[in-house]
Amino acid sequence: MKLICTESYEESARIAAGIITGAVKAKPDILLGLATGETAEGIYAGVVKAYQAGEVDFSRARTVNLDEYIGCGEPDSYRYFMESHLFRHINIPPENITIADYKADPEEDVSRMRRFFEGNRVDLQLLGLGANGHIGFNEPAEALQALTHIEDLTPSTIEANARLFANAGLVPRRAITMGMGDILRARSVLLVVKGESKRKVLGELLDGKAVSTQNPASLLLLHPDVTVIFQK
Ligand code: GLP
Repeated sequence: MKLICTESYEESARIAAGIITGAVKAKPDILLGLATGETAEGIYAGVVKAYQAGEVDFSRARTVNLDEYIGCGEPDSYRYFMESHLFRHINIPPENITIADYKADPEEDVSRMRRFFEGNRVDLQLLGLGANGHIGFNEPAEALQALTHIEDLTPSTIEANARLFANAGLVPRRAITMGMGDILRARSVLLVVKGESKRKVLGELLDGKAVSTQNPASLLLLHPDVTVIFQK
């Protein structure tokens, strides 16, 4: 695991954006695995800046998103987040974007996403970290799912994500998420950690001694190419 300890979130976001744009330059037909959330916002701002400066071209790149809420609409969907923070600002062809569809039948959409992962392997997977150790929406549990699936969100995740909704009652209770196997099959993984609430689960990962399904992010210790960017 490669660890990058920064002075600030801004520095973390700048470094992460540089890793992403560097990967696209090195492999123009890259498949990027993308994340949403506050952590991703500054990273995408950096990617958009590089695109606007003519440093990187997304015309052959493809993306797939980690997760999406079930039973929400705009502006709360992760599709909307991605359009506002990244897709509409870069030259990625719309047909190169894959994300679970909050308007679709969830079971059918899980099948569609599973078929996608049967035929495609992510080159670089960007991850944020949940305060309870979740990655994507793989919540702590006795057993974790390998494939894309429907996840019931834990009360702590619903509470943590309520800040992004008009009120807590509007936070969806379920989501579609890539499974742990989908994530661990990525050729390389970039985990960016923002915020004090994640110190405990980050500490367990940095400790590096054990994996536990009660801290899904700790399974990244089993992956051969992971970079973790976090603040002091
Ligand atoms: C959310 C999402 C994740 C995200 C993580 C961190 O619940 N399901 O995909 O990466 O939690 O979010 P944030 O960056 O807002 O702290």
